Amino acid sequence: MATSTPGGVRRWTLAVFATIGFAATLAGIGLVWSGVSARPEPTRVETRLARSARHLLIPAAARARSAPTATDPDSIARGRAHFADHCATCHGNDGKGRTSYGQRMYPRAPDMTAAATQKLSDGALFWIIENGVRLTGMPGFGDDDPSNDAESWDLVAFIRELPSLTPEDLKEMERLNPTLSRAAVEHEREIDAFLAGESVSDEGHHH
Ligand code: HEC
Repeated sequence: MATSTPGGVRRWTLAVFATIGFAATLAGIGLVWSGVSARPEPTRVETRLARSARHLLIPAAARARSAPTATDPDSIARGRAHFADHCATCHGNDGKGRTSYGQRMYPRAPDMTAAATQKLSDGALFWIIENGVRLTGMPGFGDDDPSNDAESWDLVAFIRELPSLTPEDLKEMERLNPTLSRAAVEHEREIDAFLAGESVSDEGHHH
């Protein structure tokens, strides 16, 4: 067999290295071309490579973990409230990532209702929530106290529900989104100023 001879192996190895070299050169040229701007749409190849690398870098034992307690309506409800408060800024209440922050990050906040996310194991989702993803906008929310793990498992339970959210769920979440209107911000400022001993009704005295 040609491929089992030393010459065949050498040729095969050479082909692999040449391919890697070619891909690296293309990636380098691409980077020089686009600089470090986050504005271009990440390419399919890049997204696929980044996700594969992320998959390999999450320890297998972590990926195999499952929630210590079974999912119930309470854990989903807690996860939903927490998601509306901590995650929706980037991911959106519906998890589709169609927010002004989520769509301006590189990589973009993904559509978590899609198969690519739903195919990830519970353990992988938990690991990502706890540790974040380096070189992306995804923050790590965990700490070293295992008694806080339950919150992240609630979020995993809720992420599984994302593809089947009802309009009522979304309405409920909107009430929990951390949006301070401009008027509310101004009101808070006035309270702070009042507490600091300034008179806010004094027309002639502006800062
Ligand atoms: C500041 C923006 C931001 C916030 C806040 C944020 N995320 Fe993310 N998240 C991202 C980005 C960007 C990615 C894509 C990372 C990547 O491509 O590897 C991501 C990826 C993920 C993923 C992986 C999904 C996949 O298929 O790649 C999960 C799960 C996730 N986030 C859950 C959460 C949860 C739960 C919260 C709230 C506790 C949260 N995120 C808060 C920006 C954010």
